[in-house]
Amino acid sequence: MKILFIGDVVGSPGRDMVQQYLPKLKEKYKPNMTIINGENAASGKGINEKIYKQFLEYGAQVVTLGNHAWDKKEIFEFIDDAKNMIRPANFPEGTPGKGLVFTNVNGVEVAVINMQGRTFLPPLDDPFRKVDELIEEAKKRTNIIFVDFHAEATSEKQAMGWYVDGKVSAVVGTHTHTQTADERILPQGTAYITDVGMTGPYDAILGVEKEAVMKRFLTNLPVRFEIDKKGRTQLNGFLVTISEKTGKASKVERILINDDHLFFG
Ligand SMILES: [Fe+2]
Repeated sequence: MKILFIGDVVGSPGRDMVQQYLPKLKEKYKPNMTIINGENAASGKGINEKIYKQFLEYGAQVVTLGNHAWDKKEIFEFIDDAKNMIRPANFPEGTPGKGLVFTNVNGVEVAVINMQGRTFLPPLDDPFRKVDELIEEAKKRTNIIFVDFHAEATSEKQAMGWYVDGKVSAVVGTHTHTQTADERILPQGTAYITDVGMTGPYDAILGVEKEAVMKRFLTNLPVRFEIDKKGRTQLNGFLVTISEKTGKASKVERILINDDHLFFG
């Protein structure tokens, strides 16, 4: 079983990249399932129903979110009906939506969990205790468990990887928008990468117009951050091969598409 994960899709440049390259990636790598982090998909902040449905049309099975999950108020109207979309599971009890979803891939069940870190991010419930709970729930149905850990600190993401090594198939970090080159399979069989990176503007700063971000650093004055729509674009992803029997990962591969890393089909 191969699972393709596409890192934080930022605004329309990111959505266009998914539309353009997901079919090509499917042709090249033949993933059985695709997961997209869509928390920045609507103009960089949040997601709406139209975009969620677009991602499914483009060929994703599950959409994950993060700290920007609630930025578009419309989310509250459709999150409970969006059965293939998950938000961080460690929001307090009673938060709309869910943090774990099961998907049937050609008769094989896959559990996807979304979790958020607490270092340099709002103090949600403990993601470590929460992931234990959800793994226990998922294990009743499947050994194939994929975790999107949306977090800022490398140390917290590495801690999560080691904490669940052998209990889940993969832990991929999201949120920092810059792909890390530390992909590996941990000793007990869990695929790991600190951050998958982002999909969207390439000549920008984390997807935002670089001029505005530089101005903020140079002046410390309030600046309006807009998604860069004039520069080149990129797609960052991660591909994991998992044993259907044991749920353990056997191969990991980073995917980076930009003008400095050209895609060959
Ligand atoms: Fe984020």
